[in-house]
Amino acid sequence: MSTLILGIESSCDDTSAAVLSDGQVLSNVTASQAVHLRYGGVVPELASRAHEQNIIPVVDKALGDAGISADDLSAVAFTRGPGLMGSLLVGVSFAKGFALALGKPIIEVNHLQAHVSAHFIVEEGKERPKFPFLCLLVSGGNSQILLVKDYMDMEIIGQTIDDAAGEAFDKCAKVMGLGYPGGPVINKLANEGDPKAFTFAKPHIAGYDYSFSGLKTSFLYTLRDELKKDPNFIEKNKADLCASLQATVIDILMKNLTRAAKDLGITTVAVAGGVSANSGLRDAFERLHTSRGWDVFVPKFSYTTDNAAMVASAGYRKFEKGIFADMDAAPFSRTVI
Ligand code: KG4
Repeated sequence: MSTLILGIESSCDDTSAAVLSDGQVLSNVTASQAVHLRYGGVVPELASRAHEQNIIPVVDKALGDAGISADDLSAVAFTRGPGLMGSLLVGVSFAKGFALALGKPIIEVNHLQAHVSAHFIVEEGKERPKFPFLCLLVSGGNSQILLVKDYMDMEIIGQTIDDAAGEAFDKCAKVMGLGYPGGPVINKLANEGDPKAFTFAKPHIAGYDYSFSGLKTSFLYTLRDELKKDPNFIEKNKADLCASLQATVIDILMKNLTRAAKDLGITTVAVAGGVSANSGLRDAFERLHTSRGWDVFVPKFSYTTDNAAMVASAGYRKFEKGIFADMDAAPFSRTVI
């Protein structure tokens, strides 16, 4: 009999539900929240309310798309944290109530491990990374290098000491008036610009940790100084600014990752999280394969930003090992893996 896992993700501003059968995706439904666009960032209170509105229709559609009924499920997996407390409460409470009514077990999933678990989704003809491997996890809230030793055994060997990579994209986009989220717009404009047009600060930190606050300040100071000379500076140089910013972020990310891989003698690397949708970053990973012969794993676009397929994938691995959560499992906003 197949193992059918319903995954539920509600850690930030995406309400998502997915059904996996023996690790293969049967459905993956996400309702994104447009309500935040006009505020230039996620408003936690509005996110919780939208989750409350979306959760039942999204789960209903995920079950329908999968062609199964709730009674067929083996377990319900949910994101317990980290994330926004009000948002998490909706998904966690729903998962518990739903599972309790069905008499099914629940499985708690760490959101960061879920991003990595996108690489464990079973797809016919598609290889999965062999352990141990390094995963660069880059999103709006995190920038980490994880040493992945097994499905549930992950060690953070480097992480940002201030802003995340996605946050750097979002904040720089905001000062250029490009809207939220900034990453996709910067990516699009960067494709038309010169990555060498401007030089921005890069951090000098021991070990494999990251820092993006210096880059952000350097970007802001460049705009401030140039706008004094020419009020249309941003408009005239938008593409070059985006290309140079994107190239700097990628350079910072890849330097530590490749150094860590060399130090640890690891030649399998993966990337995950919202920023892994960035075409420049994906190309940089592909180059590691062509120039060094490393095994490289880049997720499908649909599994880069927050989604429940990755949650169900992590849940499936826990189910296989018989690891279930208790009904008193409460969400948490911050954590280490
Ligand atoms: O993983 P995610 O959906 O949410 C969390 O932060 O948990 O990541 C969202 C982040 C945002 O900062 C967004 O700007 C960034 O991912 N992002 C991108 C791209 N698409 C999304 N950054 C750069 N290039 C992209 N194409």
